[in-house]
Amino acid sequence: MVVRKAVIPVAGLGTRFLPATKAQPKEMLPLVDKPVIQYIVEEAVAAGIEQIIFVTGRHKRAIEDHFDRNLELEINLEEKGKEELLKIVRDISDLADFIYIRQKEPLGLGHAILTAEPAVGNEPFAVLLGDDVMVSEKPAIGQLIDVFERFRCSVVGVQEVPEEEVSKYGIVGGREVDEGIYKLDELVEKPFLEEAPSNLAIAGRYVLTPGVFEALRNTPPGRGREIQLTDALRILNGREAIYGRILKVKRYDTGDKLGFLQATVDFALRREDLRNSFLKFLKKRVREEIEDGGDDK
Ligand code: UTP
Repeated sequence: MVVRKAVIPVAGLGTRFLPATKAQPKEMLPLVDKPVIQYIVEEAVAAGIEQIIFVTGRHKRAIEDHFDRNLELEINLEEKGKEELLKIVRDISDLADFIYIRQKEPLGLGHAILTAEPAVGNEPFAVLLGDDVMVSEKPAIGQLIDVFERFRCSVVGVQEVPEEEVSKYGIVGGREVDEGIYKLDELVEKPFLEEAPSNLAIAGRYVLTPGVFEALRNTPPGRGREIQLTDALRILNGREAIYGRILKVKRYDTGDKLGFLQATVDFALRREDLRNSFLKFLKKRVREEIEDGGDDK
């Protein structure tokens, strides 16, 4: 069975980015001139996904508007002969079929995925976290779909993290069956370092079998009343094999202020129209900081 659908949970409150996220979704913050969420949708589409299911919440209306037509704007651009911008604006709503489901309360990532069940049905599906931007030649989610097609089992994207960050992530343990591919026997959400099975952290991409919904229904709320996806995957792993694949990507956590700033700089430097002048500005700023002794030495 092919993976046609992707669930993108965007119902979180974005507390790490307040006050910017008080009245607007963190997923709509731009990297240069494109909202974070559009990069994620484009990654899914590049991997062959046809239908995007957003799990949204209150205050997330801007995401729906972004992937809809904006006729007033289109007419205005047409009248002014701004063909290039008109195409950019129109193409967004043609990227995929979009479905929106409300998560009434932010009860965790696991709960958000369970909320998508009526739209997913009984087929394997991709999950891309709405604030985790990944840059790579082959789309990150496509790297996982490859593994799914080989083993016909759920697959989680993983990355090595330094020891001091192990307790911030879901951590997996398992046996390497091929280069960078692990058959998992342990999945633990935010373990203490001493209890962590490895330093392989779950990054924001998954391909899941529909069996995960039953596992989610049987997952008790964990920390902060939230239903954790990692806990459900541990239950699922009792019934079905789960694989982990090291993602060959550069990953940015844009829900985190530092991650967002790093992504902004990198994305601006990748833009031909901005690269030279932005680099000139950065060099000058770094020189000034060093002259002022502000380089942390
Ligand atoms: P995060 O923990 O990164 O998002 O959840 P958050 O809760 O919005 O952010 P902070 O920590 O308060 O700053 C990971 C992903 O799961 C979604 C988020 O939107 C994000 O894409 N999520 C989380 C939901 O959809 N519902 C939830 O109840 C929780």
